[in-house]
Order: sequence, then C-alpha cells, then structure tokens
Amino acid sequence: MPNRGKKQRKNKKAPGESVKILISGPRIQRRIQALAKQIRKDFPDEPLHLVSVLKGGVFFLTDLARSISGEVSFDFIAVSSYGQDTHSSGQVRLTRDLDSSIEGKTVIVVEDILDTGMTLQYLLKLFQQRKPKHLRVAVLLDKPDRRIAPVHADYVGFSIPNEFVVGYGLDYSERYRNLPYVGVLSLDSKWAKKAAAK
Ligand code: IMP
Ligand code: MG
Repeated sequence: MPNRGKKQRKNKKAPGESVKILISGPRIQRRIQALAKQIRKDFPDEPLHLVSVLKGGVFFLTDLARSISGEVSFDFIAVSSYGQDTHSSGQVRLTRDLDSSIEGKTVIVVEDILDTGMTLQYLLKLFQQRKPKHLRVAVLLDKPDRRIAPVHADYVGFSIPNEFVVGYGLDYSERYRNLPYVGVLSLDSKWAKKAAAK
C-alpha cells in the first residue's frame, strides 16, 4: 500500500513543481453542504439557476448543485483572464456566453476563486443588464488580500492567504484541476527559471 500519511503531504508533481494540501477533499465537501443549506434557506421557495464559470468552477458547481434541495438548473459561461502563468493580466474577455436567458431568474454565479475581483466585476455587470430577479455570488475560495475591484461574494467557502493554489478545478497551465483537494503550488526556482527562459 502506498504511504498516504503526513510525509506524503508535500507531493512531487511535474519536475520542479510541488503541491502542499491546504484544504482537504472532505473539508471542501462539508463546507459545500453548509453553503447549499444556507443558499436554500435564503431562497426557500425559488427555483435557483446556477451559472458557473468554466472551467475552474465546474467541480464546485456539480457538488453544490447536488447538495441544494428543490428546483435547480444550471448553465455555463467562459471568460479568459489569466494567461499561462500565475499572474492575472487584468483583462477579461467573454469566450462563451450562456445558453439561455437569465431574465427574471434567481441567479447564483458559481466561481472557483475571488482573487482581484476583475472577472466577477465584469460578469456581474454583464448579468445585471440582463435583468435577473436576484443575482448572488458563491465562491469556493476568497483571497481578500489581492482584491482590486470592489466585489462582494454572498457565499464564501474558505478565505485563504495570498498564495497560488491549484486543485478542485483550479489550474496551473491547465494542470492540477483534477486534484480532489486545494493545495498551494510551489515552483522550484531552478526549474521556474528554465521554463521562463524557453
Ligand atoms: P480574478 O479576476 O483576479 O478575481 O481571478 C479570477 C480567476 O483567476 C479565477 O477564476 C481563476 O481562474 C484565476 N485564479 C486566481 N487566483 C488563482 C489561483 O490561486 N490559482 C489558480 N487560478 C487562480
Ligand atoms: Mg477561473
């Protein structure tokens, strides 16, 4: 049997990269159950329309949607903001629109992480113009120290320090999304320099 004890917590991934667990899978699941209850308590009788931001928000959406009782529908939107690295360009561009209208619906935007707030600021402005009945925001993670745009999330899974995290939907160059936990990514400086020189 592989050793899955404490010694394995700093897992070696790609050469020069390692991921240290910050929030375990079971902790994420417990928190999502609580958020789902809170959301249903706030809107006891309404059909809820969850709008997830591809691709990072997908696991959060599927777990959240299955935990909310009553009528739930969902849709997807895609934007690009980050490039291939760990720094945001600050530019937000719509790359895939919703399939259906949100007019008159109780909409909950489901995002993986609230970082600078640029992405959600852009989306909230766009959605508000489409006249939903209610517009709320649920994020799994919040990095308050990085905020530039004054965006407020109504439902927050975990507030985290200013570290680059991967897993549970979050990626580094499209990798690590499939990890069942959220972990802090470390780049070995020797390898990072080599990659940057390419
Ligand atoms: P914001 O527009 O700066 O709030 O960033 C939102 C998007 O940036 C998220 O949906 C993520 O795709 C990405 N992002 C921000 N912080 C991280 C991180 O720590 N790891 C991976 N992606 C991140
Ligand atoms: Mg994202």
